[in-house]
Amino acid sequence: MKIAFFDSGIGGLTVLHQAMRKMPQEDYLYYADTDHVPYGRKTKYQIRQYVQEAVDFIAEQDVKALVVACNTATSVAIKDLRARYSFPILGMEPAVKPAVSDTRCTKRILVTATPVTIREEKLKNLLHQVDQNHQVDLLPLPKLVEFAESSSFNDGQAEAYLRDVLAPYNLERYCTVVLGCTHFNYFKDSFHKILPEEITMLDGSSGTVNNLYHVLEQKGLLETGSGNVNYYTSSRSAEHLRPSYEALLKRLDDMLTY
Ligand code: DGL
Repeated sequence: MKIAFFDSGIGGLTVLHQAMRKMPQEDYLYYADTDHVPYGRKTKYQIRQYVQEAVDFIAEQDVKALVVACNTATSVAIKDLRARYSFPILGMEPAVKPAVSDTRCTKRILVTATPVTIREEKLKNLLHQVDQNHQVDLLPLPKLVEFAESSSFNDGQAEAYLRDVLAPYNLERYCTVVLGCTHFNYFKDSFHKILPEEITMLDGSSGTVNNLYHVLEQKGLLETGSGNVNYYTSSRSAEHLRPSYEALLKRLDDMLTY
């Protein structure tokens, strides 16, 4: 059986990439809801409907677990999904917990995400629970999703956008930037160029993948497959996109060196 990864677009590949490194012997299904990307500018009611349609399709594909590799979809739909399906469902949340519990970080923390994730109750509740020292500032970065979807990785657009939106911030006052959207992981090099060297970047991928591993292990669901990935977009097989998705996975491999 397969482990399914779901996102509005290519962001979830950054989480799949981590899972494939930790569990190379598993088989995977990757589903990108390309008809409806970006989710971060939609209403929560629209997103819930898209997610339900997608997961109804995924549930028919011989899957043993689902990773909602999208912070935005998790923030508005994870409860409904867990009530509707019986297989394990893991979500993503901005890595605020590890950021605030890092005792080396005594300055401020900047949490970046889509506008939906930033304004939803789920993040507010999380901050209420863990941001006791009021260390966290929030910054929506909707355009990074669009740059990623149009493969504008290295043409300077994302970097110029980031310089612009970060200009009002005194970055010396921060010790951590949280990448709370899976699409943002493609722009780690642009963040690196702009942020002071001492700032740590945190994202939720490894936390979610570690949880996935433990859930599968506990339920006796770890398997030895062939490490294959099947690709789907908005309830259609997307085998023709395999080369471009594999190129993105390769790009993520290359990014591990810095
Ligand atoms: N990748 C998604 C996330 O982690 C959102 C992208 C979108 O706006 O569609 O939040």
